[in-house]
Amino acid sequence: MTSLAVTGATGFLGRHVVRAAVDRGLAVRCLVRPTSDVVALRDFLGSTRWAAVECRVCNLADGASCRSAIRGAGCVVHLAAALRGSTPALFLNTVVPTRVLCRALAEERVPRFVLVSSLAVYGTARMTPGSELDENSPVDPQPHERDPYTYSKVVQERVAREQLAASDTQLVVLRPGVIIGPGRGALSDRIGLKIGSWRLRVTGRRPLPYTYVENCAEAVVQAAVVPLEKDVVCNVLDDRLPTPREVLRACRRAGKQVRTLPVPGWLMHRLCRWYHRYAEWSTRQLPPVLTEYRSRAAWNPLRFTNRRAKQWLQWGPRVPMDEALRRSLAEG
Ligand SMILES: NC(=O)c1ccc[n+]([C@@H]2O[C@H](COP(=O)([O-])OP(=O)(O)OC[C@H]3O[C@@H](n4cnc5c(N)ncnc54)[C@H](OP(=O)(O)O)[C@@H]3O)[C@@H](O)[C@H]2O)c1
Repeated sequence: MTSLAVTGATGFLGRHVVRAAVDRGLAVRCLVRPTSDVVALRDFLGSTRWAAVECRVCNLADGASCRSAIRGAGCVVHLAAALRGSTPALFLNTVVPTRVLCRALAEERVPRFVLVSSLAVYGTARMTPGSELDENSPVDPQPHERDPYTYSKVVQERVAREQLAASDTQLVVLRPGVIIGPGRGALSDRIGLKIGSWRLRVTGRRPLPYTYVENCAEAVVQAAVVPLEKDVVCNVLDDRLPTPREVLRACRRAGKQVRTLPVPGWLMHRLCRWYHRYAEWSTRQLPPVLTEYRSRAAWNPLRFTNRRAKQWLQWGPRVPMDEALRRSLAEG
């Protein structure tokens, strides 16, 4: 029986990964912080599943703590990361733990490492509108021009590859799109720019790169157990991707008020360019958060594929998108 050690087990995706792994009969060790909400994880799993899980406090910034926590695991699934904050904060909570953990993996000769990265790492700003994004699409060469999260995920992947290059550990990098689900809802910045209670919805019938949390969790568990001959990178996306209008319609059906103003992509790029120029000209009286590069990266109309994940991970999303949207919007 494969045993998994899971970092970030108390997070939004992590608890679904733990549940899916226990349901598959895998032995699961959750690596948590002293401050992690383990009670919420226990409540989410229920007593029967909880009895099958081992919880271990681990400091991911400490090599000895990591080595002892992952010893004997057949696979380490690494979800722990910061999603928000400044570049230094994300570096400390995402890149540093990954580096320390990877060293420990190599030393402990753990057979497989599943790194949950993000679709955000791709250099989407420079892709031709309408083209297909797949695993051969280039990673953003200027992640520092994007946002702290993208930067931290690009560097996280690089650090993992460097640390594991000469090791016996197989590296599986998963790049999920936006993960929707109960507690997180179904709205995202991919729809448009949020300003107060308004959203500037970027128009056009483009698909949103979404994956439902349970579908994504099953892909993560598959990546931990499926036979693979070499290191792999897989994007994780659901089959039928919704358009922004469809998501907004689902919100209204669920009784959620979303105030939107349609803006064509070209105008959004121009607004972001002007904003940035003004921020520079006014010696940064406005924070330099919007640039044309970021606008193109977020709202470039692209097509997406999950072909590789389906083929290599032998995975398919089980919850269809209509149901995923309904469940994601049902509460909160
Ligand atoms: N959510 C998305 O749309 C999305 C999309 C693509 C990829 N991803 C990736 O999926 C992973 C999980 O995301 P999520 O949405 O589940 O995030 P989340 O709900 O914020 O959970 C993050 C988890 O990481 C842990 N963590 C954060 N910093 C840590 C540190 N320094 N040391 C140890 N543990 C730490 C947190 O522990 P505590 O519980 O103790 O705070 C929590 O369990 C991340 O790697 C993220 O980049 C997410």
